[in-house]
Amino acid sequence: MRLIITGGLGHIGSGLLNKINSFKNLKEIIVLDYALRNKKNILFNLKIKSRIRFIEQDILTFDLNRIVKTGDILIHFAAITNAVESFKIKKKLIRNNFSSTKKIVDICKKKNIKCIFFSSTSVYGSSDKIMFEDDYNNLNPQSPYAECKLKEEKYISSKAKKNKMKFVILRLGTIYGVSKGMRFHTAVNKFCYQAAFNKPLTIWKTALNQKRPYLDLNDAIKCIKFIISKNLFNNNTFNVITNNIDLRSLLSIINKYKKIKIKLVSNKIMNQLSYEASNKKILSHGFRSKGNLNLQIKKTLRLFQGLNK
Ligand SMILES: NC(=O)c1ccc[n+]([C@@H]2O[C@H](COP(=O)([O-])OP(=O)(O)OC[C@H]3O[C@@H](n4cnc5c(N)ncnc54)[C@H](O)[C@@H]3O)[C@@H](O)[C@H]2O)c1
Repeated sequence: MRLIITGGLGHIGSGLLNKINSFKNLKEIIVLDYALRNKKNILFNLKIKSRIRFIEQDILTFDLNRIVKTGDILIHFAAITNAVESFKIKKKLIRNNFSSTKKIVDICKKKNIKCIFFSSTSVYGSSDKIMFEDDYNNLNPQSPYAECKLKEEKYISSKAKKNKMKFVILRLGTIYGVSKGMRFHTAVNKFCYQAAFNKPLTIWKTALNQKRPYLDLNDAIKCIKFIISKNLFNNNTFNVITNNIDLRSLLSIINKYKKIKIKLVSNKIMNQLSYEASNKKILSHGFRSKGNLNLQIKKTLRLFQGLNK
């Protein structure tokens, strides 16, 4: 098996590389990411048994025919991923995310390639409900990032159906957990970072009781492995989550390990809606999540343990 991983130097991709030796029959890995120069540390001490190649290129300008072969599996992580920032860079984000996904779909169609595409539970939006994948009334993205994910999903689904392609769409909850390429603008990681630096955690007043879906990085990786091993490339969409948790409970877990200060703010950056995502569909195929929010929070805080002694 050959894996092509786009965006492989990111939060999830670098975590996947760290566990890739547990994937069976893996002959070669090709990582395509345009940020290699700024992320060299991710390549330090990689202990990967299979052949691995890094290609420092932008999907938008690179000729994918040069690397993709019939029979490959393509794991498409690459995207601009900061939802709050996406309000300021809407055009750039659509150009990057939608156009690169379109290019990926074209090459998958041309070479008959299986592909895992990563969407987000932020495509949901209705308040106080449990979100299921196939209930289209619940789709109500609240940021340009999430709007674009939904547009990409629709594009993939229509092309995949028409051309008998082999796609799977995973709607991930917000990731928490440690990897070499981890980001600190997602909720759990950002709060751990602020707590570690003794900074007040800035919380929008009405957000405290709002529930959201989260995903342990290890479960995300486990799910990718599961999809490949079960050959679940049947043009389905799956929610992948570890916990639905409200912000108050999340903060109290962080507070157990590091005393936090909270600053309630009233300026609204993004529409904050409360919802839960159901993972029943992927569970019905036999997937089991094992993630542990407490442990991952502890590990994230521990990254900064040398500080503030
Ligand atoms: N992290 C989360 O909480 C989360 C939640 C839901 C969905 N997702 C989705 O999962 C995927 C991976 O997320 P992540 O957290 O690892 O993201 P990330 O931002 O950490 O990594 C994305 C990587 O893609 C690369 N990239 C972006 N555009 C590119 C292009 N045109 N050509 C080449 N490389 C490009 C970046 O350099 C970066 O290394 C993304 O599609 C994201 O939208 C993530």
